[in-house]
Amino acid sequence: MTIAVTAVSGQLGAAIARSLIETATEEPIIGLARTPAKAADLGIEIRGGDYNQPEELRASLMGVDTLLLVSGMDTPEARIPQHRNVIEAAKSAGVRKIVYTSIQGPETGSAFSPVVQSNRQTEADLRASGLAFAIGRNGIYIEPDVEYIDSYKARGEIANSAGEAKCGYTTRAELAHAYCALLTKGDHNGKTVNLNGEPITQTQLANHLNSAFGTSLTYREMTPEEFIADRSAELGPFLGPIIGGIYQGIRLGIYDTPGDFHAVTGRPHQSWEDYFRALRP
Ligand SMILES: NC(=O)c1ccc[n+]([C@@H]2O[C@H](COP(=O)([O-])OP(=O)(O)OC[C@H]3O[C@@H](n4cnc5c(N)ncnc54)[C@H](OP(=O)(O)O)[C@@H]3O)[C@@H](O)[C@H]2O)c1
Repeated sequence: MTIAVTAVSGQLGAAIARSLIETATEEPIIGLARTPAKAADLGIEIRGGDYNQPEELRASLMGVDTLLLVSGMDTPEARIPQHRNVIEAAKSAGVRKIVYTSIQGPETGSAFSPVVQSNRQTEADLRASGLAFAIGRNGIYIEPDVEYIDSYKARGEIANSAGEAKCGYTTRAELAHAYCALLTKGDHNGKTVNLNGEPITQTQLANHLNSAFGTSLTYREMTPEEFIADRSAELGPFLGPIIGGIYQGIRLGIYDTPGDFHAVTGRPHQSWEDYFRALRP
């Protein structure tokens, strides 16, 4: 059974490909990339995989049985036809199953909602495709909060609009493990699963960061409007409201889900104690 992974030049695609290489030793693994040169170090066959190039996608998917489709990075309006290009190319090349990396998030009422809706549309397109499928809805990556540690240190606090609500974060490594299972086993075919770790509050997140980095961060709640203004000042008028919308989703409890990670993989998601302990110098 040949397995292919799209966007394999990106962090999630590469993590999934590496996890497949380590665990699915019998299966040939092929990477698809818009920029194949960026994926050369994976040591697997890399084929062209620009979501805007239907013919290239069809040629690259010949001989592939199971495909992992990583959600694109374009605007919501552009993503839907891009993902349709991949689904149609897969059908025409004889692919039998697609696993899609969707997202959790507020479906209405925030600047992030159009992004969530575009993912929901691809989920619907996949369900209607006639192919076997499995859909993972990813929790929020925790890595950006870790990478942001110097800014948190400079501010002395984590300040956002999540309030006291809990968020089921995840990591790309744990997602890669779960997507390996969805690709190589059939027990979640036809299902949509939430992939995240134990939900935590922002105060708990601050405490975990403090334990890993020796900081004394505290958490301060902002109103949604204050936080959107704060993010827009740093990230600009497009990305700022989107980040604000993600935290609006946390505030509303959208990300407070136990998730299906254990059911999918046969083991619990890595605990946040273990994750942050491994970051200590
Ligand atoms: N759960 C979360 O918190 C969270 C956060 C951010 C993003 N996401 C989602 O997760 C996905 C993967 O994240 P990541 O960490 O792997 O992001 P990343 O490291 O930035 O990688 C993005 C990948 O998308 C590829 N790509 C962009 N446009 C493409 C196109 N037109 N055709 C084919 N490939 C294209 C890029 O290819 P090139 O190398 O050619 O640029 C790259 O491989 C993102 O696409 C986004 O939808 C989730």
